[in-house]
Amino acid sequence: MTPPQTDVLSIETVPVESCDDGTVVALVTINRPNKLNALNSDVTSSIKDMVAWVEQTDTVRCVVVTGAQPLPPPEGKRAKPNAFVAGADITEFLGRGSEEITVMFTDNAIEALWNMSKPSIAMVDGFALGGGLEVACSCDIRIASTRSKFGTPEINLGLIPGYGGTQRLVSLLGYGKALELVMTGEMIGAEEAQRIGLVNHVTEPEELNQRVMTMASLIATKSSNTLRVAKETLRSALDEGLTQGVATEAKAFANLFDTEDKEIGVKAFLNRETAEWKHR
Ligand code: COA
Repeated sequence: MTPPQTDVLSIETVPVESCDDGTVVALVTINRPNKLNALNSDVTSSIKDMVAWVEQTDTVRCVVVTGAQPLPPPEGKRAKPNAFVAGADITEFLGRGSEEITVMFTDNAIEALWNMSKPSIAMVDGFALGGGLEVACSCDIRIASTRSKFGTPEINLGLIPGYGGTQRLVSLLGYGKALELVMTGEMIGAEEAQRIGLVNHVTEPEELNQRVMTMASLIATKSSNTLRVAKETLRSALDEGLTQGVATEAKAFANLFDTEDKEIGVKAFLNRETAEWKHR
């Protein structure tokens, strides 16, 4: 199936070398570099289409989300800074009231990304602010370059995060740090973001792509069925208490014993072979 490309979002399917069954990583680039990849309605509807395509395309085993690099500036002008995504497009906020915003922010693209059954990695090189940080937090893993900056500046617009940021930041960072970010609107650098658990890894900008694609390719070699169960089960820890969550895990773990991939994985280990998954 051909990926749904638009002017503001491109999708490259990158073959995973160690798999000979057509497995790919989908490299998704939000492409509005002159507006620091800000999320306007074209971008958000493209993200939703991308998620639908990923779900329907078996060979896609992992998704990497990133922002387009700055374009060379016109003569005499300064270059735009590097950005993952510098937030929701603020020009779409002016003059709008709660009714319109409720429509825009209900059943939204960031929720679609969060609910995607396949693994995702945010590759952050530059500003990840507001809705941009919320896109990153809706991915499963975040890897950032040393020049990245993170923050929730909505408070400076008289707003709060609206794409689930208040909730997902609390689960990632804890209440205290999340509240500090939201209330101050201050940006933090990549090292601090890693220290507080906002990003998983930090690399030099020139090593970022390689680092992310290596991890995405590694994940893509696993059983997609087991990955789906792993994601669902870890997610249950966010909504269920410990006792219920442990029961959910026990059930998911036991159910995997009825799958072909568990037999394949265990036999491959015992025979010192590489598992050739059936993904079921
Ligand atoms: N929505 C719409 N446009 C945005 C944007 C956003 N969230 N973030 C940046 N842009 C646009 C700027 O308006 C500017 O457009 P122009 O060149 O046509 O005037 C362009 O992107 C480059 O940004 P600029 O502000 O000139 O870059 P900078 O290096 O001076 O500052 C930032 C970079 C990230 C500090 C600054 O752009 C910023 O504060 N952005 C808004 C962040 C924010 O509040 N996000 C939360 C939104 S809910």
